[in-house]
Order: sequence, then C-alpha cells, then structure tokens
Amino acid sequence: MQNDRFLKACRREQVDCTPVWLMRQAGRYMAEYMEIRTKYDFLTMCKTPELATEVTLQPINRLGVDAAILFADILLPLEGMGINLAFAKNEGPVISNPVRRIQDVENIRILEAEEATPYVMEAIRMIRKELAGRAPLIGFSGAPFTIASYIIEGGGSKEYKNCKTMMFGAPEVWDALMEKISEVLLRYLKAQIKAGAQAVQMFDSWVGALSPDDYERYVLPYSRYVLSGLKDEGVPVIHFANNASAMLELVVRAGGDVIGIDWRINLDEAWRRIGYDRAVQGNLDPFTLFAPPRLIEEKVKRILEMAENRPGHIFNLGHGINKETPVENVMAMVEAVHKYSRR
Ligand code: CP3
Repeated sequence: MQNDRFLKACRREQVDCTPVWLMRQAGRYMAEYMEIRTKYDFLTMCKTPELATEVTLQPINRLGVDAAILFADILLPLEGMGINLAFAKNEGPVISNPVRRIQDVENIRILEAEEATPYVMEAIRMIRKELAGRAPLIGFSGAPFTIASYIIEGGGSKEYKNCKTMMFGAPEVWDALMEKISEVLLRYLKAQIKAGAQAVQMFDSWVGALSPDDYERYVLPYSRYVLSGLKDEGVPVIHFANNASAMLELVVRAGGDVIGIDWRINLDEAWRRIGYDRAVQGNLDPFTLFAPPRLIEEKVKRILEMAENRPGHIFNLGHGINKETPVENVMAMVEAVHKYSRR
C-alpha cells in the first residue's frame, strides 16, 4: 500500500501527516461526477460496478484525499428486505411501502448480502483492483436507527413522527424491526469486508433527533450488535453519529475503533469525552468550504491544534459535503490539512 496513513491513524499509529477524506466525497459538486450523472440515474450508477468504480476514484484523482469511499448508498440493502426504494427527482429517497405494523415487520426478509446486493460486492472488488494500493477503500452502511427512520417514515423526515410513535407506542414492534435491520446491516458490512473493504463506517445520520435516554434504550443495543459483530473482522470500524454531542459517551459505548464527530462540539472536548483509547474523525463544518481559502486554512489549523498531533486523528468534515461546494476550496482544504499537520 503506497498511502496507508488513513489506516495507521485508525489504529492510532504515528503518521507523517494527518490523513483526510470527506464524507460524500464522490458527488454532485464535481464536474466529473455530473458528466456521468447526466447519462444515468443515481440507482443505476450504484448498481453498475464499472460506473461506481469510476466515480469512487474521482476524488482520489482530483483531490488527493487519503482514502476512497465506496460509491453506494445506505439505502441499497432495503430492496433485498422487500422494501421498495426509489430516488425521486429533487426529493431524495422515497419508499412506497413503509413499515408501520408488526405484520410489515414480519414480512421483512433477511437475505445474504451477496444475494441481495451483489453489485456492491462486485464494485468493491473492482475498486480495489483499480486503486492498486494508491489509497485504502472504506465500505459503509447506515446505522439501525437511521435506516429504521427511512423505512418507517417512507423517506427523509424532519420530526420523525411515525418513527417515534412506533418507538414509544409499540416498543415490541420497534424492537422486532430493529433486530431485523441490525442483522441485515451486520451481514452487509461483513460481506463488504470479505469483498475487500479495508475499513467500514456506520453512518447514524439522524440519531440526533433522540434524547440520550431514548438513545440508550431504543438504539444503543442495536448499534452495539452491529459494531461488536465486526470486532473479529480485522478492519477498523468508524462509528459516526451526527448531531449526537449530547450523548457522545453513549455513542462510544455502542462501539467503534474510530468515533466520528460533527462540528457542533470542539474536537478537543469531544476527544477528551470519547477517551484517548479511540481514534477520532472530524470535524470541519461542511459550509466552511463556501468561505475563502484563507479562512478555510485558519479553521483547518484550529482543528489540527485541538488534535495536538496525538496519534489517531483523521481529518474530515462534520457531515457530508454540500452539492454546491466549490471544488477548488475542497482542494485547498486537503492541501492545508497535509501542510499544517506535517510531523
Ligand atoms: O461518501 C461518498 O462519496 C460515498 C457515497 C455516499 C452516498 N450516500 C452517495 C449519494 C454515501 C456514504 C451515502 C450515505 C448516505 N445516503 C447517507 C448517510 C450520509 C450522511 O450524509 O449522513 C444518507 C442519509 C443517505 C440517503 C440519501 N441518499 C439521501 C438523503 C440522498 C438524497 C440527497 C440529495 O441531496 O438529493 C441520497 C442520494 C445520494 N447518495 C447522492 C449521492 C452522491 C445524490 C444522488 C444524485 O446524484 O442525485
């Protein structure tokens, strides 16, 4: 492997400079992506390993980031479960048969991931070959809560009304659903590792909607089931819970070798609470990238200062990159991270 600083940082080993990648780094802010995207819809791109491979490599070639992340989506495993997934224009994901009652939960299938999402595993094998060690490949999944929120609401949500109605009003239905989702996600991530993913990240994008007590009761056991099931797979596991700084300690208890942090908390305080026995990933506000490069540099330096060159920091945004971000600013950010963290 020519560039292994990301994997070293995951294991809290010394590195020559701080590794950096961006959540959602392959996407619409890149002209190269849009060129392909005008010809194919998003799901077709995910399901065509050649296209997924090409798009996964774009940020490696253009930005000089230290890791590639599989081009896919957290919602791809839904189809194998018998849940209908579509991406409506300008609306994001839409599910036409949301899960609301125990009967719906009973109808959910648990397949092997190679059978449900063969194209994902094929893409991983193809990307590994194409990368040829230039950067490690990260696989990923959603976390049980975030996946449950889409399945129950039928798409994105602001208030999670149906989700919380089930959680609080029919906890036996909630638990049965979360059990099935966790099993699907564990199998999905294990299959990605087997296919060649050199690290995996579990995204809990919407869990910040919950109180710490409710996280502990309704979510933590299921996230822990997935994360602890990956312990013997031999690759680092990143656990990112967005908007969860009020319950960081619980997120850590759920597991992960690397804990992702958003920008709503300073990195030094977050790491102290997480504990120095874990690596951390983060945490620049994605909208900083709309500012002039000089300010981006300052913000990068500030985060690096808070990390104090302690082994185990992976630089990233505090959440996914916005689709209108100027690509030159992203390049300035990557350059600044490498320059100011040189050991
Ligand atoms: O990081 C990467 O580059 C890998 C690719 C990746 C995508 N989705 C591609 C994508 C990853 C890691 C994801 C994860 C994902 N998908 C999450 C968790 C990450 C997060 O930001 O919290 C979530 C919540 C989803 C669900 C999802 N997929 C939504 C809400 C949308 C619509 C967003 C929008 O702006 O329209 C998607 C679509 C999607 N996933 C796109 C991409 C590049 C845009 C598709 C397009 O080209 O139109």
